[in-house]
Amino acid sequence: MQNRIPVGILGATGIVGQRFVQMLENHPWFEVAWLAASDRSEGRPYGEAARWRLKTAIPPQVAAMMVSPASPEGAPRLIFAALDAAIAAELEPRFAEAGCGVVSNSSALRMQKDVPLVVPEVNADHIKLLECQAWRKKSGGYVVTNPNCSAIGLVMALAPLEREFGLETVMAVTMQAVSGAGYPGVASLDILGNVIPYIPKEEEKMEEETRKLLGRLNGAGIVPGTFGMSAQCNRVAVEDGHTESVSVKLTKAAEPEEIIAAWNEFRSVPQELRLPSAPENPVQYVTASDRPQPRFDADRGHGMTATVGRLRPCGVLDWKFTVLSHNTIRGAAGAALLNAELLKAQGYL
Ligand SMILES: NC(=O)c1ccc[n+]([C@@H]2O[C@H](COP(=O)([O-])OP(=O)(O)OC[C@H]3O[C@@H](n4cnc5c(N)ncnc54)[C@H](OP(=O)(O)O)[C@@H]3O)[C@@H](O)[C@H]2O)c1
Repeated sequence: MQNRIPVGILGATGIVGQRFVQMLENHPWFEVAWLAASDRSEGRPYGEAARWRLKTAIPPQVAAMMVSPASPEGAPRLIFAALDAAIAAELEPRFAEAGCGVVSNSSALRMQKDVPLVVPEVNADHIKLLECQAWRKKSGGYVVTNPNCSAIGLVMALAPLEREFGLETVMAVTMQAVSGAGYPGVASLDILGNVIPYIPKEEEKMEEETRKLLGRLNGAGIVPGTFGMSAQCNRVAVEDGHTESVSVKLTKAAEPEEIIAAWNEFRSVPQELRLPSAPENPVQYVTASDRPQPRFDADRGHGMTATVGRLRPCGVLDWKFTVLSHNTIRGAAGAALLNAELLKAQGYL
């Protein structure tokens, strides 16, 4: 555990920031050295400023750390960012300009042409795009992003199918947990015993991010995937774990056993490189007819595995299935951590 790389967390007091703190405790490569949030938290010990919402205790050395102002002076070179998009749009470029590597969760820069949007199992090669960034050329700084929390579960289920059979059309309907809205998030009176069939900008993000993730690196940009894609997003009264009902049309005909094998045998760069946060099985198919369920399956692979089930023929497209992934782990902090591990393994830190 000696000589670990010091890292900072921007937005450390929020739901995703807390996951970073939890996942970085005892990390073999990285060590939390700096925490920042809004003026409300600045200058206070983290243990007081954060309304800790996780089931494990706050690591004592982190609880005692003072929350710094959200500016690059005094910040370490590697920054995990968990800020609302509007604030990220202003702050992330400032940190990159100052020479920091910013590993971001926010949507602010995800679709920018020279910003890699990466899920290491799906498109690790896209990370090279950061070499095109002006920040990289001027100060060595850069921004790398991970996708929206519902796009990530979907893309992990789609990547093995795209690789083996090709994708023509994708339709996805989500049932998204309340923790996806941050803290305090959705008012209890709005969500208890209810379903809200609208999450601002979520459907657009799922559609464009999925195409960018499954797109092809072409010099200084990404040629997006050309498959048809339609997403509908709903907020439901679940604490953690986004569930998605998906129908697909494939380019090549496939038998159900071949599809299940494509999911279960899917291994990629993080598994080959043995990155510390990489799950052994990025995608796992469960056979019980009433699974996956958030309560029982969201934590599979320490929250880093996407669980798929209920594969059956679709009356309109070819096949339909359900996929579930943990929104604050695989969909946020764990996704960024895996991106940072990939950056280290590829010599960018
Ligand atoms: N929750 C999820 O499942 C999920 C999944 C994927 C991506 N994301 C994305 O990750 C980001 C963070 O989400 P979250 O759910 O963690 O939100 P959150 O719980 O609302 O936390 C927001 C964080 O930003 C800080 N902040 C607010 N205004 C600031 C400012 N002006 N300067 C510096 N820091 C400021 C807050 O600090 P204070 O506590 O001091 O106010 C807090 O630490 C968002 O872009 C979100 O879309 C979330």
